[in-house]
Amino acid sequence: MTSSYRSSSYRITLLPGDGIGPEITAVARQLLDAVSRRHGFELVYDEQPMGGAAIDATGEPLPASTLEACRGADAVLLAAIGSPQYDSLPREQRPETGLLALRAGLGLFANLRPVKIIPALIDASSLKRQVIEGVDLLVVRELTGGVYFGTPKGRVEANGRVRGFNTMAYFDDEIDRIAKVGFELALQRGGRLCSVDKANVLDVSQLWRDRVTAMGADYPGVELSHMYVDNAAMQLVRNPRQFDVLLTSNLFGDILSDEAAMLSGSIGMLPSASLGESGPGLFEPIHGSAPDIAGQDKANPMAMVLSAAMMLRIGLQREAAAADLEAAVDQVLAAGYRTGDLMAEGCTPLGCRAMGDQLLAALEG
Ligand code: IPM
Ligand code: MG
Repeated sequence: MTSSYRSSSYRITLLPGDGIGPEITAVARQLLDAVSRRHGFELVYDEQPMGGAAIDATGEPLPASTLEACRGADAVLLAAIGSPQYDSLPREQRPETGLLALRAGLGLFANLRPVKIIPALIDASSLKRQVIEGVDLLVVRELTGGVYFGTPKGRVEANGRVRGFNTMAYFDDEIDRIAKVGFELALQRGGRLCSVDKANVLDVSQLWRDRVTAMGADYPGVELSHMYVDNAAMQLVRNPRQFDVLLTSNLFGDILSDEAAMLSGSIGMLPSASLGESGPGLFEPIHGSAPDIAGQDKANPMAMVLSAAMMLRIGLQREAAAADLEAAVDQVLAAGYRTGDLMAEGCTPLGCRAMGDQLLAALEG
């Protein structure tokens, strides 16, 4: 029997970034090396500066050379960016601006943020077990439009007053392409799509609702509903099991995905994928750079490892290797190993590196 050909070597641009980024990148890399060896393929890494690390090195949060390297890769794995020391820089020089430029530069309009309860962590959530048991939802967030990118924007001074402003705007085709991703993923999952907007107040949201409703006709197999964002924020903590796929604009998805992350106990557990029409995807944990614990070997590397798993599955079509990484995370948690953010009575506390070693042992066991 001959197996069908697929690539045996992939180029990965690694962006360790700031804060805890380098520590969790080291763990992910160790695991990626082990899992690729086991599955008979090779990962070739190209590490590039991004965020504050790039500001220190070049004065810019996203150097052109970093963007070029990302464009030429098979997939991009980013850890985290940002640190308070850069918060007083002009906006175009801040780490966050570099991240937005990377998303826009790679055309990554679709951000997928899955939230699934890991049984071993159910008591780590601030919500009651009976509320979160069985939660398995996916936030599909639009990532290159809306108020994050809309113009005009800025700050003006007139008649002794200062006015700051942004524009929340979407073109019909921008809504259609993200809605299509939402419908297609709903078909592959539980068949339910809830589109989030503020159509009772915002014109941009009414257009959003009209386009999503129209597309619903093409997807008779998907049960479509609409929810105002304020109600969605409430329903997420009241009865999160009602959701399968949540379709959101850029800002609403930013807010709701942090809220949804807490259902799983720790934001340190959640990976994400950002995808475009073509070209490499960007895979990154949802959490930030946690400057308060940076360099202290306290970070939870698991969202980064799960982001590497998403990269293997979605970016490189290496399902079996992805499943191995996820199984290692489950196994280590089931064995009672915990980083500080997840620590509970009777469990074994570990630092970032030691957690990496346990994950590696689980993978190779
Ligand atoms: C996220 C982050 C980013 C965002 C920041 C760091 C620019 O909060 O990925 O959710 O707002 O999109
Ligand atoms: Mg966010």
